[in-house]
Amino acid sequence: MGLIIKKAAKLKMDKFYDNFYFEKMLDTSNEWIVKRTGIEKRFFSEKPLSQMAEEAAENLKLTDEEKKKIRLLIVSTVGGDFIVPSLAAILQGRLGLEKEILAFDLNIACTGFVGGTILAESYLRAGEYALVIGAEKLSNFTNFKDRTTAIIFADGAGACLYEKSKEKFYKDLGTISDEKFLTLKSDEGYLKMEGREVFRFATSVMPKSIEKVLKRADQKIDLFILHQANERIINFIEKKIPGNYYSNIKNYANTSSASIAMALADLYEKDSLRGKNILLAGFGGGLTYGTCIVRGENEIR
Ligand code: COA
Repeated sequence: MGLIIKKAAKLKMDKFYDNFYFEKMLDTSNEWIVKRTGIEKRFFSEKPLSQMAEEAAENLKLTDEEKKKIRLLIVSTVGGDFIVPSLAAILQGRLGLEKEILAFDLNIACTGFVGGTILAESYLRAGEYALVIGAEKLSNFTNFKDRTTAIIFADGAGACLYEKSKEKFYKDLGTISDEKFLTLKSDEGYLKMEGREVFRFATSVMPKSIEKVLKRADQKIDLFILHQANERIINFIEKKIPGNYYSNIKNYANTSSASIAMALADLYEKDSLRGKNILLAGFGGGLTYGTCIVRGENEIR
């Protein structure tokens, strides 16, 4: 593959909110949420997003040698505690990375981590490293009186250290403009979603994107990691394209572009990425979608 996962880590999360928390404030139920989404609990952060992203990256425990090899730092987010400077610029200093690197924030909504991965592959030369972080504090943009979004979106941050390899890279990215189905308007301040339409979009576009990449790559995939938006979407795609799908949405809900990064971190912690061919696929606001294949490092840590 064109990118090797060297390390993955996530923010340490300490305070989870189960579905019963919402029963007290909204016309909803644990049963409805579990059945329709697969979500059981989620994390809401009391820390600013810059700190969340920093902690996720610090948990990679980067060595000085690794830091020197990083040529690119991308933080994917729909927005945080800073507009300027970018989170990436802040983290360059806080993490002690080299000065001569490109560091920027990327907003492709929930497709951001896959988009950042694809950009990293196209920017790096073989042997160079990129740090791609997905960090979201969606609780800042959630209307907790709106049951159609409050139970779905949550906070999280994950970080991944990639190395560019000489092998071929397979990817697919797309945008289908939408100003209605999934929005976060600055003058409204809240995420709004027409869930059924987004569901329809995800289940029609994602299988096609994944199949396109699989056809081009023509290789066995050991692990499919999709954006954790809804368990039913993952199950739907798994039925169409059978394979080994990872899901952790029950623990974290939908953390937008942090979700795939956190899934990688969970699996890295269990040493379940090593030597694996991994397909990443994201979709979300824009509307946008993206798929690519990366590989877990072979070496024994
Ligand atoms: N609790 C209880 N009832 C709820 C509810 C909640 N939190 N949210 C909506 N409902 C109600 C609706 O009002 C509707 O009631 P009605 O039949 O009386 O009109 C009913 O449940 C069914 O709503 P519907 O929107 O059709 O449900 P759904 O099966 O499509 O599930 C989502 C809703 C949001 C879970 C689902 O559409 C979804 O996951 N969509 C994709 C979202 C997504 O992936 N977003 C992120 C993209 S990055």
